[in-house]
Amino acid sequence: MAKENPGINNGAIHDDKENVSTNPTDNRTFADVVSTRLSRRNIMRGSLAGAAASFLAPAPFIHAGGYKRGYSASSGPLVGFTPVSIADATFDQTLPTISEDYEYQIIIPWGTPIEPGATEPYLGDPDSRPTPQQASRQIGIGHDGMFFFPEDSRDRQRWGRRYRPSNTKGMLCINHEFGTNPHVLGKEAPENLQDVRLSQAVHGVSVVALERDYYEGWQVVSSPNSRRITVNTPMEFSGPAADSPLLQNPAGNVPLGTVNNCGAFTSLWGTYITCEENFNGYFGATEGETFNDNRTEEQQRYGFDYDGFGYGWELFDKRFDLSNPDYVNESNRFGWCVEIDPFDGTRKPVKRTALGRFKHEAIAMLETITGRVAVYMGDDQRGDYAYKFVSARPWRSAIAAGESPLDEGTLYVARFNDDGTGDWLPLDIAVNEELAARFETQADLLINVRLAADIAGATKMDRPEWTTIGLTSSVFWTLTNNNRKADGQGEVNAANPEEENNDGHIIRSKDAGRGDGATFTWEIYVLASTTRDTAGVFTDPDAAHADPWGRLFIGTDGGQPDGLQDQLVVFDTTLDTPAPQRLLVGVPSDEITGFAYTPDRCTAFVNVQHPGNGSPDDTNFPDSFNGVTIPRDATLVITRKDGGVIGS
Ligand code: FEO
Ligand code: CA
Ligand code: CA
Ligand code: CA
Repeated sequence: MAKENPGINNGAIHDDKENVSTNPTDNRTFADVVSTRLSRRNIMRGSLAGAAASFLAPAPFIHAGGYKRGYSASSGPLVGFTPVSIADATFDQTLPTISEDYEYQIIIPWGTPIEPGATEPYLGDPDSRPTPQQASRQIGIGHDGMFFFPEDSRDRQRWGRRYRPSNTKGMLCINHEFGTNPHVLGKEAPENLQDVRLSQAVHGVSVVALERDYYEGWQVVSSPNSRRITVNTPMEFSGPAADSPLLQNPAGNVPLGTVNNCGAFTSLWGTYITCEENFNGYFGATEGETFNDNRTEEQQRYGFDYDGFGYGWELFDKRFDLSNPDYVNESNRFGWCVEIDPFDGTRKPVKRTALGRFKHEAIAMLETITGRVAVYMGDDQRGDYAYKFVSARPWRSAIAAGESPLDEGTLYVARFNDDGTGDWLPLDIAVNEELAARFETQADLLINVRLAADIAGATKMDRPEWTTIGLTSSVFWTLTNNNRKADGQGEVNAANPEEENNDGHIIRSKDAGRGDGATFTWEIYVLASTTRDTAGVFTDPDAAHADPWGRLFIGTDGGQPDGLQDQLVVFDTTLDTPAPQRLLVGVPSDEITGFAYTPDRCTAFVNVQHPGNGSPDDTNFPDSFNGVTIPRDATLVITRKDGGVIGS
């Protein structure tokens, strides 16, 4: 059946417009750095206001190599599976293809009730859509970053004081980054508030209880902690900007909602942290084009535009109308990292303002040598920056005192020097006179961090996507691509050396003082263009996860060469030469993203995002091809057939 492609604008919305550089600064000009050496491997060797509150640690399980190295580690190579060959993956897949040593189960497609019986499921019928009320009780769309929090109570009982987190039951927190109007509503634009509410209800986060049944595999089960968090869920602000007038509206409306939740991970104290990325695109101006002529410097730098990404929420929901003076600061309420308690469904999510406001792609956290936390974050836009936050005090004592380590500390932006060193530049009006001249308060700075980073002299990057912590507290940064430097969007520099960076690259950095320090060393771990014409070819690295043994999992987002769909590749980072091995290949026009795992690391969760860009002509995933059913984002649960560690 020939159907109009409802996903036709998706590429324009989510691969192009959102990524147009809004960085007008000329932080550095490099005519001569293209020849700078790429490999730096040698260097590498050698307010507590409001919700100050706690999020007390339920879980001593997760981090810092917390799982025993020897656990079902095979004696073979670190990455030893049979890779998916290009020939096996270039069919017009109706379902993902995985290494012959692995298998997968598809769970929680968009529209799955958040608990059994919570509401009707939505199964992809093109002639009907969920109501907003149903959608707010269903798994959302745009599956992206996630984390699996193993159930503890049952196992605590079973194992007594010796804590054994479950590998078969827990809460999966999962981001719902976006679903376009054609995909979600079946039309280009909303026609009424009901349409807007449906679009808003499929965005946000799900906290869903999963349990593995011996016969049926992983299933959604009931839990008092199951919940949907949407664009209309009450939120709290915390940290230095929490009480800023710039977060208040004349309308006096309470803070609601999170949107465009991209990457995510856990804190060291066992909470979920979700990142708000392309929030600007959900705002529009009912006054039309004249809005653009009168934008503030801040609005321009954050990419606000009279017609946004075309969601049209502003037409029926005043909060998202940039022309409405009663909601003049609503747009400042998005662009934050948001902390969620996976084990308390009654607790409000908290926006942590000390981490700054930008297009937060993802987050990775490590414990520094002094017991503080260092948090690594990218701002995904052409020519935008890499950031780090370091807490003011050790995280354990902060948590014990009922305070958040993420509410007080220093936010830095990265300058990558040509010689393989780098500097973390503090974004603090107390130590930088130029910043003090531009911003009246530190809260003002945190709300408009991009402008502060411009002034500080940060290095323009080729779209920083995910961060993840590798061996010896190194940090991997995915830079997905940037082929628009010629028109002023970004720049050629040592850390972003390709003039036409069509394929993207991955940087590995390492801080002095295991995260405490204000300097670092760095190298380009791999330029994706160098994998062309190899069996492991990949481009457009995006999602990233490093395991405690030295494996690096990379999910891609963008046109892969040689007829490949987007894929999951695995590196053994202990090798001198990066050699990506293809574990999984997705379905047409999807993106492979998110990475979560059970404590034994023998089960992983990986997302198939925007399959077919919403078009049933391309794929009907998770259904087999039928040309009719609306494709739905879903999660793959992947296991090795022999029960081994994922990636081996
Ligand atoms: Fe949400 Fe930059 O990808
Ligand atoms: Ca991404
Ligand atoms: Ca991307
Ligand atoms: Ca995405």
